Amino acid sequence: METTRILIADDDKKTRDFVAAFLSYRGYQVFQASDGQDALEKIELNDVHLVITDIMMPRVNGLEFIKKLKAMRPEIVTIAYSAFANSEMTANLLKAGAFFYLEKPFNLEELETHVKRGLEHQALQNQSFRTKPCIKNRSLLNNIIGESDRMLALFELIEKVADSDSTVLLQGESGTGKELVARAIHDLSGRRTKNFVPVNCAAIPDDLLESELFGHVKGSFTGAVATRIGRFEMADKGTLFLDEIGDMKPNLQVKLLRVLQNRELEPVGATHSKKVDVRIIAATNQNLEKLVSSKEFREDLYYRLSVIPIMLPPLRDRKGDIPLLINSFMEKFNRDKQHKVKGLDRSALEILCCYDWPGNVRELENLVERLVILKGNGIITPHDLPDKYRGVRTSVIQETLALPEKGFCLNSAVEEFENKLILQALEKTGGNKKEAAMLLNLKRTTLIEKLKKKKLIFGPRMMSSS
Ligand SMILES: Nc1ncnc2c1ncn2[C@@H]1O[C@H](COP(=O)(O)OP(=O)(O)OP(=O)(O)O)[C@@H](O)[C@H]1O
Ligand SMILES: [Mg+2]
Repeated sequence: METTRILIADDDKKTRDFVAAFLSYRGYQVFQASDGQDALEKIELNDVHLVITDIMMPRVNGLEFIKKLKAMRPEIVTIAYSAFANSEMTANLLKAGAFFYLEKPFNLEELETHVKRGLEHQALQNQSFRTKPCIKNRSLLNNIIGESDRMLALFELIEKVADSDSTVLLQGESGTGKELVARAIHDLSGRRTKNFVPVNCAAIPDDLLESELFGHVKGSFTGAVATRIGRFEMADKGTLFLDEIGDMKPNLQVKLLRVLQNRELEPVGATHSKKVDVRIIAATNQNLEKLVSSKEFREDLYYRLSVIPIMLPPLRDRKGDIPLLINSFMEKFNRDKQHKVKGLDRSALEILCCYDWPGNVRELENLVERLVILKGNGIITPHDLPDKYRGVRTSVIQETLALPEKGFCLNSAVEEFENKLILQALEKTGGNKKEAAMLLNLKRTTLIEKLKKKKLIFGPRMMSSS
């Protein structure tokens, strides 16, 4: 059996040696690193299964390290420990992807119990990884990229529903891939050799939409110079994709409902109805339930459409897929534009993994296209990213702020906030004031002045504002 490889990161050599000796004795292969940066470098050289890390470390601290590690190698299990952590820190660690947090001093037997649990958890994850290929091939076939649990569940659902003729309602924010999924369902269905006909209900003027959908007979209205079949008939034996269904006007909603119930349509101006065999997939980025409550969307039509409701996750809920999406788009645009951009450096990737992507995959795809065009070759660094993305760190910090119920003293809170960030910048740069000032977008002299004024002291294991 393969020996389990564990890396322990701690700037305190004594603790490190102590834990390493115990784990080696228990049969693990152990590597050591003196801080987060050193650990990231060692992980690139040695394929480790699990990481045990201290939180307070110079250069790259434990939290930063875990965030970077999760972006780089999400499958590595991480156990963190510290003597200083509070509940907020613990929450941040777990949010960043740590498997478990231990308070120092801890018992080595206890540590090993968590190591074993972490490895079991990893084995389970790997099993689901191994079941991926058959799904992944199909998703690749249809260009839907994702390996997160949310996406795997989606692939499974798509496979299950594809071959039924049931009506599907795709809901999700703009850019989450609703059209891509609709096409995948059609391509995996028995109707794949027939037409997939999209209709954007929001893009066609209201008075034309009816004839666009159901067709018209010659002379039925001004401009109807010839009899024309509608999209329903074009999609006969195939799939009709009703996009932006939330924008359909009430009078047309009634007519659509009738077609869905009877599978018969009446072209504008016709006296007879026609049978159609069409599978319907509808999509919207609006909240249809809300539109139903406000009576803007018919409840009966809503139930007809949502026989199989599928909710597409926003990208911010599957951030683990961001590196995969970036790679895939980069490959595509390098190929299309004959460019040779190699990828993103760690900091740039970290920034993009922290960003919330309101425009979802479409926004990410557009950004990668822009980066490939502007960069041409080499590696993308944070400086290549538009300002909007670089500002993300500030917004991440702001998200953690909450006004206490009873109010508080703004001046001292601002002061404390500033102190914390200055100390974090110093910690991150191992006390290098020039680099810390750059991180804070300050002049070096301004930072030094602030440190003097605030009497802030920075030491490898000590942070104080006394
Ligand atoms: N999982 C994915 N993998 C690869 N590309 C994706 C994925 N999801 C979306 N895209 C790409 O993002 C872009 C937007 O996707 P799509 O048009 O399907 O979104 P949408 O949900 O229909 O958005 P809207 O509501 O604005 O119409 C497309 O170029 C699509 O190829
Ligand atoms: Mg769309």
